[in-house]
Amino acid sequence: MPCPVKTSGPSLFDYDECVPGPLHFDAHAALYDRGRPPYPDQLWTCLGSHGWLSPGGRVVELGAGSGLATRRLLAAGARVTAVEPGPALAGLLRERCPDASIILGTAEETGLDESAFDLAVIATAVHWLDLGLVLPKLHAALTPGGHLAVWRNAFGDPSVSLTPFRERVAQVVDRRPPGPPRSGPGELATAAWADALEAGGYFERVLVEEFAWAITLDRSQVRDLFTTFSDWSAAEADEVARSVDDLGGRVVEHYRTPLVVLRRTGHVPSAGNTF
Ligand SMILES: C[S@@+](CC[C@H](N)C(=O)[O-])C[C@H]1O[C@@H](n2cnc3c(N)ncnc32)[C@H](O)[C@@H]1O
Repeated sequence: MPCPVKTSGPSLFDYDECVPGPLHFDAHAALYDRGRPPYPDQLWTCLGSHGWLSPGGRVVELGAGSGLATRRLLAAGARVTAVEPGPALAGLLRERCPDASIILGTAEETGLDESAFDLAVIATAVHWLDLGLVLPKLHAALTPGGHLAVWRNAFGDPSVSLTPFRERVAQVVDRRPPGPPRSGPGELATAAWADALEAGGYFERVLVEEFAWAITLDRSQVRDLFTTFSDWSAAEADEVARSVDDLGGRVVEHYRTPLVVLRRTGHVPSAGNTF
């Protein structure tokens, strides 16, 4: 779902509560925890088969939420430090992932030890981060040869023909008044995200991949999931949930998960790089 990209200011609380923003997730923490579908198995297989995620590996995850990705990182045997600024989400993260070391704070403001991690992970959170601050910090926090893996679940697959359910979703979205233009690449503009992650010379891409998958959802799963989207109102989520009844009680949704993996560059980039 479209979200504004954070372009300035290190504080999460710079956001106006009336505008869709990252605080939305913390306000709906329990719903987020039960409503968001997991990341596809192909993604975990890919990270494991390249050796980027391995038992004993030290991983730092930025914007961990309630631990959707954290659980799988821990299950793979990694030692995880998870950074999450939302207090309600961080509370759930603590319950769900007692083996992770959890830091309450933003990616921009949290201090990370130097050369302390083999892998940095950002799952469905990169669009909220100020990369000008975060990329140099991750460069310093990763070991030489360390990697940064950035992915997101994109809820909708433009390459699949429009389903009756997606037609209902489009009707809701099309009724909205035009909002402020989004800054930053779109959620499936994966090459543009890879460019943004290479800016400044801290990282160089080693893999750009997209995984296609599908999931069947019932009415209450649709309601929960759409309520977690930062640009959807509760009334809109209710409306699309009701449409599931008209469509037989269950709908098949087609999603994509773009993944960009980058290697930490060996040199320390000089100051003055632009993002
Ligand atoms: C869509 S959720 C993704 C959560 C989790 N990574 C997952 O895969 O389910 C976006 C997350 O980014 C967090 N976030 C927003 N701004 C952030 C920032 N500046 N630093 C770190 N995390 C941030 C939010 O609190 C939220 O948990």
